[in-house]
Amino acid sequence: MSQFSKDFQTGLRDLMRWRRDVRRFRRDAVEEAVLQDCLDTFLLSPSVGLSEPWRVIRVQSPGARAAALENFTTANAQALAGYESDKARVYAGLKLSGMQDAPVQLAIYCEEATDKGAGLGAGTMPEMRRYSVVGAITHFWLAARAQGLGVGWVSILDPEQLSRDLEVPADWALVAYLCVGWPETASDTPELELAGWETRRPTLPTEVR
Ligand SMILES: Cc1cc2nc3c(=O)[nH]c(=O)nc-3n(C[C@H](O)[C@H](O)[C@H](O)COP(=O)(O)O)c2cc1C
Repeated sequence: MSQFSKDFQTGLRDLMRWRRDVRRFRRDAVEEAVLQDCLDTFLLSPSVGLSEPWRVIRVQSPGARAAALENFTTANAQALAGYESDKARVYAGLKLSGMQDAPVQLAIYCEEATDKGAGLGAGTMPEMRRYSVVGAITHFWLAARAQGLGVGWVSILDPEQLSRDLEVPADWALVAYLCVGWPETASDTPELELAGWETRRPTLPTEVR
């Protein structure tokens, strides 16, 4: 495949336009084959030195789910306490995770000390391994949206507490906690924009040096 059609290009742009951070999920299960198909896109992603440092934990047991939800609830209350007046009022009304309903929940880690790739490209900037994981998550997000699945990225968490609760190795760094499931609605507008928290820039500011 050396070329992609105009129709495909338009469709890809539509996919990006209609990808949303989803916090409102239906509770019906996600078929394993559909989820696996989305997860397989991690293996198509670029990574520094081909280190493939992503590690995926399915957070499934009631105990692990409860610990993660409590973690979010505490961190979210602390975050709310950091805002004042109007911002605090709007923040309090935001739904910032779908952890109560999402049928699939994934903790995505970066193995910081992986030998894979023999350190190529990560010598002066070891954080490149984490950036590689972020890129792979974007692939996963788009692949999920292409199948109609919603993904919500939750970062309002105490990462050290979550790592203890999930008993992950010490050299794994939390990159994302993803809620995955069938979304209640579709929209081409971010929920934070609809809620009056923030707006998107109409143009990309670029600078020339
Ligand atoms: C790194 C990262 C962390 C995020 N953390 C949260 C979060 O903790 N809770 C939440 O509701 N949304 C979170 N989001 C979603 C953003 O709010 C969302 O991407 C943004 O408002 C744009 O909306 P859209 O993704 O629907 O285009 C996160 C997104 C990214 C990329």
